[in-house]
Amino acid sequence: MAIRNIVKQGDPCLEKVCRPVTEFNARLHCLLDDMVETLAQAEGAGLAAPQVGIVRRVAVIIDGEGGYIELVNPVITREEGIQEGPEGCLSVPGRYGIVDRPMNVTVQYQDRFGAEHTIDLEEFLARAACHEIDHLDGKLYVRLVKEYLNPEDLAE
Ligand code: CO
Repeated sequence: MAIRNIVKQGDPCLEKVCRPVTEFNARLHCLLDDMVETLAQAEGAGLAAPQVGIVRRVAVIIDGEGGYIELVNPVITREEGIQEGPEGCLSVPGRYGIVDRPMNVTVQYQDRFGAEHTIDLEEFLARAACHEIDHLDGKLYVRLVKEYLNPEDLAE
């Protein structure tokens, strides 16, 4: 496994619509292993493949219990409610903004072996899934920010 470099806002990879994964091979498994390691080291909530320069529909989010959920070709099939809260991005370091997201989502995805899964996520994990899946469509959260926060305010 290896830590991969996280590209920053302005990198063209972050503006591309990512291609679906069609081969669930060792190369994908290596990418997922590296993304988990990179996310863990960065202490983030989620990481999308374009953030490490790979324009494929792959993302990793925390599972809320100390582990990670690997999302290959994820699609949001249900959105319910709304939550307003702070959001940041490893590709936009040092900034946090208030963004509205659904309170609950259902995500259909494949695992690293290609098996289909459906998961219901709420609150922070729903926010993380929406943020990462937006990355796969070349969208950064900054386009949704209603107001930026002072980092000092967040630390309180
Ligand atoms: Co992000």
